[in-house]
Amino acid sequence: MKAPWVSIESFPLHLGEEVVVKGWLANKRSSGKVAFLIVRDGTGFAQATGAVGEFFTRSELKEMAKVPLQSSIILQGVVRKDDRAPGGYELALSHFQVVAEAEDYPIQNKEHSVEFLLENRHLWLRSQKPHAVLRIRNQVIMGLHQFLQENGFTLIDPPILTPAACEGTTTLFELDYFDLGKAYLSQSGQLYMEAAASAFGKVYCLAPTFRAEKSKTRRHLTEFWMLEPEAAFFDWQDNMELQEQLVSFVVGRILDSCQEELATLERDLTPLTKIKTPFPRISYEQAIEILKAKGFSAEWGDDFGGDEETAISEEFDRPVFIHHYPAQIKAFYMQPDPDDTRLVLNDDLIAPEGYGEIIGGSQRIHDYQLLKNKLEENNLPLEAFQWYLDLRKFGTCPHSGFGLGIERMVAWISGIHHIREAIPFPRQIYRIYP
Ligand code: 4AD
Ligand code: MG
Repeated sequence: MKAPWVSIESFPLHLGEEVVVKGWLANKRSSGKVAFLIVRDGTGFAQATGAVGEFFTRSELKEMAKVPLQSSIILQGVVRKDDRAPGGYELALSHFQVVAEAEDYPIQNKEHSVEFLLENRHLWLRSQKPHAVLRIRNQVIMGLHQFLQENGFTLIDPPILTPAACEGTTTLFELDYFDLGKAYLSQSGQLYMEAAASAFGKVYCLAPTFRAEKSKTRRHLTEFWMLEPEAAFFDWQDNMELQEQLVSFVVGRILDSCQEELATLERDLTPLTKIKTPFPRISYEQAIEILKAKGFSAEWGDDFGGDEETAISEEFDRPVFIHHYPAQIKAFYMQPDPDDTRLVLNDDLIAPEGYGEIIGGSQRIHDYQLLKNKLEENNLPLEAFQWYLDLRKFGTCPHSGFGLGIERMVAWISGIHHIREAIPFPRQIYRIYP
């Protein structure tokens, strides 16, 4: 086949031209004289039609109609506008070639259980909905990089094997590390970003993180990706401003660049178009008041679960910051509020529409002695944290940062129910296959 190989995504640029498409047979039907094939090539889905006549004999068309779904194929034809075809374009076929015939494909065009689909995730990725979600994930990640790079942040990669806990010792994945004893899969790159912030000023990482979470909720994975910016000389309020700018930038970028994917997912766009800065800010104490008024038995000192977060988010039409949590329910490294040391200078950002906490952030303790005391109070091994304490000895400064959960952000923007569909190969307490 001699025509240029193009992507389905670029069909609008090739109207009237003869092109080659390489992909897989996603669906088909035939009327005897015309075969309607749905082909996908990774960039999109398109209809291709072959007709008895100039290019195909009746028996060739019959063979075409028999090709099993998911077979790899190469097609050639002219791109035509057709408003009835999915995507608005179709390929009028002149050549049809099978690269490899597929065996009977387990995923049919009918309702399957989620369990079955997850067991076949390696194949399910080809279906339209997972394809749309993961294309959105791609654009979310590109948007995060773009915003941070354009705003002076340097990407610094954190280690994944670590000598100590960052987010509490109860959710650590532990392994034997040669003669050096125990090592742990990283729960967060934050501590390393703090070191990097004193070298590069404004930094971030985007890396896998691990939590041996016993929670079987729609918001928890045992392996997830986190974006973690950290900035020297930022206080907790600078930190919140950065978060709202970043989130609204990425939502705007998705609305611009993923219209087709959002349509495939039947995402209601109205709530997304409201995601503009500034985001509302309430204190932890105000959050408790809201919950009490809504009939929850919330007391000062309680942490919020999914139901509480949803109830609070219902009061707002954009993401809401909750700041100044009690120190006792937050991590050891958070800076106490100088006006009330029972509280810390932190924020959680709660997404609208019941998607819960998408960001956790704070100003960090920058005083050596205070940090040392906190490590001791939390029974954390000082030896493993010596390097982290060091940062407070050599030109310490107030600094802040946050962690944004990629899968929670993608699930929210895509409007899907469970975050396991926001990552290509989810890891949960009861799932490690495929
Ligand atoms: O609130 P977390 O635990 O904060 C930290 O780890 C900080 N060290 C981050 C920092 O300041 N650099 O986690 C941050 C975000 C959460 O808001 C949530 O979006 C996501 O990470 N997250 C999870 N996502 C999926 N599954 C889990 N088990 C998650 N745990 C946290
Ligand atoms: Mg958190």
